[in-house]
Amino acid sequence: MKTPTPIAEIAGTGHFLPDNVVTNDDLAKRLDTSDEWIRTRTGIRERRIAPDGMHAAHLGSEAAKQAMEEAGVEPGEVDILIVSTATPDRWLPSTACDIQAILGCDNAVAFDVMAACTGHIYGLSMAEGYIAAGRAEVALVVAAEKMSAIVDWTDRTTAVLFGDGGGAAVLRPSNGSGRGIVSSHLQSDGNLAELLYRPGGGAIEPISQSMLDNGRHLLHMHGREIFKNAVRSMAEACDIAMKKAGFTSSDIDLLVPHQANIRIIEATAKYAGLPMEKVFVNVEKYGNMSSATVPIAFHEARMEGLIGEGSNVLTVAFGAGLTWGAMTIRM
Ligand SMILES: CC(C)(COP(=O)(O)OP(=O)(O)OC[C@H]1O[C@@H](n2cnc3c(N)ncnc32)[C@H](O)[C@@H]1OP(=O)(O)O)[C@@H](O)C(=O)NCCC(=O)NCCS
Repeated sequence: MKTPTPIAEIAGTGHFLPDNVVTNDDLAKRLDTSDEWIRTRTGIRERRIAPDGMHAAHLGSEAAKQAMEEAGVEPGEVDILIVSTATPDRWLPSTACDIQAILGCDNAVAFDVMAACTGHIYGLSMAEGYIAAGRAEVALVVAAEKMSAIVDWTDRTTAVLFGDGGGAAVLRPSNGSGRGIVSSHLQSDGNLAELLYRPGGGAIEPISQSMLDNGRHLLHMHGREIFKNAVRSMAEACDIAMKKAGFTSSDIDLLVPHQANIRIIEATAKYAGLPMEKVFVNVEKYGNMSSATVPIAFHEARMEGLIGEGSNVLTVAFGAGLTWGAMTIRM
């Protein structure tokens, strides 16, 4: 297949991580777990946890400032501001509107996208669509996740997996540069919603004392089923995104996968035909920060010089919904 011409390119990226580091040993002091169990089953050594008073809008807006600075974009130039979050600061209005107010992006249309860990890839794809339609010149795509606010800290099967952080990217028209999003593949399967969800607190199970007492407003997960679906779906998405781009694995310079578990990452890389030297991994430092994971990893890989001009990057994610997706990007 002929490689499509990119329409929207990444003009800047950024990330923000709270300073507070919580190690596996710290968790073992309050949960029946151990550093050894967490490391061998997940690859995670530590995660960042935002302090009280630091919420998703803060995590996201700090990352956005960096991305805008690199892109040379003033707040008033942003046409569309898309925020992915599984941990909105309030039910109403959107966290995107809060971030808009913090940044002063007064001319932007701002809204949240709810696609869990795949949210940033969904957001990039939506921004690309706005640019392709000629409805935006500057798109700001932010991921803002305070997972520590929705995790059940008494449940060792989920509490050890997650962390907090923000990531961002600015997209602009490629204008024939040859750089930008080459292909993407997004998918969802609502039939498997209850493998990873927050049952209470919405319209089905409104807030009540018994709902709170039973922790039904917090994250519930079937780990093994999620694991199997993640490996299968991410492998398939990588395959389809590469095919749409006319790429084979040898064309990919770096895989930037969602960082939920090192074993899921290794299996995805294997299916995609990529050696681990071509895979960016930072799960040991941050754990799973839902949709913020991919843009944070992407930004770190750039800062470490692993993504440079002309690099072909494959990025892939998987999350609640279920949702999953992959994207190839030429920098
Ligand atoms: C959660 C996950 C690490 C569990 O690993 P696993 O190898 O599947 O482990 P299991 O769930 O089979 O549990 C094995 C045992 O470890 C125990 N265990 C679970 N969490 C533990 C912890 N933090 N510390 C110590 N033991 C733990 C279980 O209770 C179980 O004990 P049992 O055999 O006595 O019942 C793994 O399933 C996973 O990563 N799933 C995907 C999760 C994910 O990525 N979610 C987000 C998607 S975006």
